[in-house]
Amino acid sequence: MTETALDRIEAIGAEAEAAIEGAAGTAELEELRVRYLGRRAELTAILRGIAELPASERGAVGAAGNRARKSLEAAIERRGSALDAGELEARLSEDRVDVTLPGAPPRPVGHVHLITRTTRLIEDTMIGLGYRVMEGPEVEHDYYNFTALNHPPGHPARMLQDTFYVQSDPEVLLRTHTSPVQVRGMESQPPPIFMIAPGKVYRRDSDATHSPMFHQVEGLAVGEGITLADLQGTLDEMLRAIFGGERKARMRPHFFPFTEPSVEFDVSCFQCEGTGALAGGERCNLCKGIGWIEVGGAGMVDPNVLGFVESNGYDPERVQGFAFGMGVERIAMLRHGVPDLRRFFDNDVRVLEQFS
Ligand code: DAH
Repeated sequence: MTETALDRIEAIGAEAEAAIEGAAGTAELEELRVRYLGRRAELTAILRGIAELPASERGAVGAAGNRARKSLEAAIERRGSALDAGELEARLSEDRVDVTLPGAPPRPVGHVHLITRTTRLIEDTMIGLGYRVMEGPEVEHDYYNFTALNHPPGHPARMLQDTFYVQSDPEVLLRTHTSPVQVRGMESQPPPIFMIAPGKVYRRDSDATHSPMFHQVEGLAVGEGITLADLQGTLDEMLRAIFGGERKARMRPHFFPFTEPSVEFDVSCFQCEGTGALAGGERCNLCKGIGWIEVGGAGMVDPNVLGFVESNGYDPERVQGFAFGMGVERIAMLRHGVPDLRRFFDNDVRVLEQFS
């Protein structure tokens, strides 16, 4: 009988361990626990029957039974943890949401507006040349838009730009150009300064090549020994980045109140390679046969302008530099053959999505 009880304990232990190891899930494991360790389990019955055994056998059977019991409890615990971890893992991967799947129904993904892209192209180029990007307000003081740019009150050059004034205050207006950021930039940092200022500007103007709101990029470089030759090199570099590696810049004399001398600058025509004629011999329609396309205005910063920021280190006897400004819409129209500037702002996706 003793032999039998010990054999049974060993047999139950071996069978139960194997079953526990093979349990495929926590539910099955719970069934095994009830079967081998529950109130009606055989091992439980053996332990409960110890009192009926001869006294000499009780010790050995009791010890073996309790060992088997402990060992099965430990095996169930181990298998339980492994199954828990596996089931959690399975549930997590089953429940995983693929956030990269398109929504239902899928929505078209937009893209950056051509004007923003063109602005960023110019910014990237100038950052590569060591310039900082600065910003100024679109609602501006007369002082920054005109006075500090060497347009004295009453100066006729103020009439050249048809300005929107803020009704309640004749000193406050919508900036007509990005040039006021030159003055704000120089107020905010002593020389040397290398900055560009992209942004919206406003003029009372509307036709195929003008809109009451448009975008400009301003450039300013002031330090010791900066010359018109540096302006030429900078324009060459910038226009090559915008219009292609073979381009050249050309300066023509012009007038702006805040530069002296002042120029307008052109890029060699990228359609006829600057020849003015197309392959078939007919006149190039892009540059009108001239070989050059006007891009913007520039010049050497007028000492009077530096005088307005002299207290910040811009002594016109010591530092000098150049400035330039150009229209972003015009550059985008040229690069992409867009005939009417107003198309940029109509928000007709059939037009805009061509420039993705
Ligand atoms: N602000 C001028 C305009 O809007 C463009 C311009 C000309 C900017 C010459 C400059 C410059 O910085 O030096 O017409």
